[in-house]
Amino acid sequence: MKKLYIETYGCQMNVNDTEVVFSILAKHGYARTENIAEADVIMANTCSIRDNAEQRIWGRIDYFNTFRKAKPGLVVGILGCMAERLKDALLDTGKVDVVAGPDAYRNLPALLEAVGEGHPQINVELSREETYGDISPVRIDKNGVSAFISIMRGCNNVCSYCVVPYTRGSERSRDWHTIVREACECVEAGYKEVTLLGQNVDSYKYEDVDFAKLLALVAGVSPTLRVRFSTSHPKDISNAVIDTMAAWPNICHHIHLPVQSGNDRILEKMRRRYTREWYLERVAKIREVMPDCGITTDAIVGFCSETEEEFRDTLSIFEEVGYDSAFMFNYSERPGTLASRNYPDDIPLEVKTRRLNELIELQNRLSLESNRRDVGREFEVLVEGPSKKGESQLCGRTGSNKMCVWDDTDHKAGDYVRVRVIDCTSATLLCEPV
Ligand code: 5AD
Ligand code: SF4
Repeated sequence: MKKLYIETYGCQMNVNDTEVVFSILAKHGYARTENIAEADVIMANTCSIRDNAEQRIWGRIDYFNTFRKAKPGLVVGILGCMAERLKDALLDTGKVDVVAGPDAYRNLPALLEAVGEGHPQINVELSREETYGDISPVRIDKNGVSAFISIMRGCNNVCSYCVVPYTRGSERSRDWHTIVREACECVEAGYKEVTLLGQNVDSYKYEDVDFAKLLALVAGVSPTLRVRFSTSHPKDISNAVIDTMAAWPNICHHIHLPVQSGNDRILEKMRRRYTREWYLERVAKIREVMPDCGITTDAIVGFCSETEEEFRDTLSIFEEVGYDSAFMFNYSERPGTLASRNYPDDIPLEVKTRRLNELIELQNRLSLESNRRDVGREFEVLVEGPSKKGESQLCGRTGSNKMCVWDDTDHKAGDYVRVRVIDCTSATLLCEPV
């Protein structure tokens, strides 16, 4: 057996793709190693979403190359979004032997075999059909509690700032039979939670099964299997999805609903195809049906031509929604996107960073306020394992996706525990078992 080491960057979809790659290569004599020094093949599954994500990977490529001295036959491979975006340019550096885009992983055994003969190999073809639906991923998470299931690939939205449609190709939904089968396999393997993944889960459609129906099918697999999903698009999240979440006790009440901006002119320029008013109506609907639903978001500050006043609209929508948590970013221009072709990246870095810090500071306060509202409440939490503090303290998440920690030596990873919140920080609920 040859030894294969893979580092994964970027989104949860990439984590699941790495699991698919391990599965494909296991059938061709490659065993997974977590020790880079003993690897015959070193790969990075990469992300292109922002320039700093790519910069980090360039650093890793140089690091991978330091192992060539000790291992003359070493193969260095780049997978994922950066492979798709940069293509031959990665091979031209002389530091990379194999380049494979997100739809080319079935070709990896052949690519690795051919490179053995001393020729760099590349396959960055995108597909309209590939979903890896028949492949059972080799789970790489350590706790054995929570698994990712990809339900679709690619994206057809073409938000003007976003590189994903170019790196992951057009949208396609996976056969729901294989999704349900994978959820059953997860239950049999002892998993207690699955997260259904897609760039825009609300546009899932296979035969007559839409996302609301798919949620119900997966929730029906086992009452003790928690079901999560990511990511929803505000323009597409339907009442049927919200109602299905409310109807099934094992579907977690958490929606990640990226807002990106609170200003209509910027939203239009981002090609998000909803307005602030529409977004707030969706939030109101979610809260009406599920008052306890966690709502989290992504936002970009300093998008092309964003004025100070327009940025204030992002602050105010954060305040109005009162997010439980958020991922916030400086706008990073991505070559080839609609924004890079049509609008100058004209907000100075200092201004972006000042706005970002202001937004982060606001969100820290909102997270703390949200957590304070939970003090005194009880939650059913799925134990993920020991907390950072050590074995006598456990951690796990509420359905609304808040991290809880509590002293406990009676339970273990995979157990459901009822806890009461006694205190909090902006990041964590401090609890006791009840
Ligand atoms: N610059 C900054 N942030 C971006 N995102 C996507 N593209 C960019 C970009 N060019 C953010 C969005 C998205 C999250 C995954 O990354 O907020 O929701
Ligand atoms: Fe990064 Fe987006 Fe690709 Fe995921 S889909 S790896 S977030 S660029």
